[in-house]
Amino acid sequence: MERLIITGGARLKGSVTISGAKNAILPILASCLLSDTPLVLEGVPRLDDVVTMQEVLQSLGAKVKWLDDVMEIDPSNITSTEVPASLMRRMRASNLVMGALLGRLGNVRASYPGGCTIGSRPMDLHLKGFGYLGAKVHEHHGFIEMEAAKLTGTEIHLDFPSVGATENIMMAAVLAEGTTTIRNAAREPEIVDLQNFLNRLGAEIRGAGLDIIQINGVSRVGREIAYRVIPDRIETGTFMVAAAITRGEIEIINTIPEHVEPVTAKLREAGIRVWEEDDRIIVKGVDTWNALDIRTLPYPGFPTDMQPQFMVFLSLAQGTSIITENIFENRFQHVGELRRMGAHIRVEGRSAVISGVPNLTGALVEATDLRAGAALVLGGLAAENTTIVEGVEHINRGYEKLDAKLRRLGAQIRRE
Ligand code: EPZ
Repeated sequence: MERLIITGGARLKGSVTISGAKNAILPILASCLLSDTPLVLEGVPRLDDVVTMQEVLQSLGAKVKWLDDVMEIDPSNITSTEVPASLMRRMRASNLVMGALLGRLGNVRASYPGGCTIGSRPMDLHLKGFGYLGAKVHEHHGFIEMEAAKLTGTEIHLDFPSVGATENIMMAAVLAEGTTTIRNAAREPEIVDLQNFLNRLGAEIRGAGLDIIQINGVSRVGREIAYRVIPDRIETGTFMVAAAITRGEIEIINTIPEHVEPVTAKLREAGIRVWEEDDRIIVKGVDTWNALDIRTLPYPGFPTDMQPQFMVFLSLAQGTSIITENIFENRFQHVGELRRMGAHIRVEGRSAVISGVPNLTGALVEATDLRAGAALVLGGLAAENTTIVEGVEHINRGYEKLDAKLRRLGAQIRRE
């Protein structure tokens, strides 16, 4: 099992370049199954989750070549519509190929994606949307089988602005007959990126980024394009907190300030200095910072994927903070690990009450999911003496070369 050894205390200084967004590249890769023509993606981050999605596409018959951050995909000949159960279990986002397979070939078989530690993460909203489009959905023995002679555009109102359901239904609607309107759609920037990519392939989608998205079905999509995915707003936010919690100063390059506006607003409210330019952000820490109240919400609210990182940041604030996790029912796994480092946190239902302490101390801690792992690394950077973070495979899923990028900023961190 890989682990990260961190000696805390260094104030991080310098520049860091943000990689392509994990949560943009995953749906965009899945949507390539709609195309009958080869295409190129640029800015592809070297992440374990992207390797998994590459394996999913290859298992379905697509050809994928990946060199540095450029991926050449040839989805012209899809030979299977069954998503391997092992890959669905390894990564929930494998479920994002279901809408595209249904749209392109009219059937799909997949096992239920594994839940994960942060919540049960059902797919009811995805399946309801596919049903509304005309698919016959059979669920049995942990498998989902869907078939549709054709899909017909319709009106769909999502009970909750689910990111994955919005993306999956959008993809299924691209080749449907007629117009589909998704109401109460998720508004995340990654959905706008998916719309822009699909429109470059010849789809006709409008409204992504707002809560009503309209998809006019077309007969086919596919153009020999090269498309660069947006930078990762959660990696950006993670480095913003790294600057704040180590009282350092970091210039974050290749990012979109608007995408992290809720994070910037909260850091400024805590007293952290943040400057925004067109494709970069500079964050300068201060010696003491204020406690905050945080509620995670769908975009443009405060992102749940930044909740663990803010919990460790607020563990060192002046005063008592409250974080309410409204998106996932079990995303406080990192609390126990942060307590080992001396944090004072009490969980009451969906809320965590964090009493600021003067410092954290190094400990042996375990990452339980991707963002919890990032939070423990941030804690190690700020803690006195040495922290060992186990479960680094979680971190490898969503952060490209995190330890190398931190070392270049002066962190004492090594991978074992
Ligand atoms: C996406 O997951 C992200 N993953 C998650 O990032 C992110 O935390 C989440 O959106 C919320 O922003 C990718 O984009 C690959 P949801 P997704 O559907 O689509 C419930 C990370 O760290 N729900 O918006 O699975 C669900 O259980 C990951 O990068 C249903 O009840 O999120 C959850 O409580 C973690 N029924 C809530 O909605 C459904 O059919 C939000 O889920 C679908 C979802």
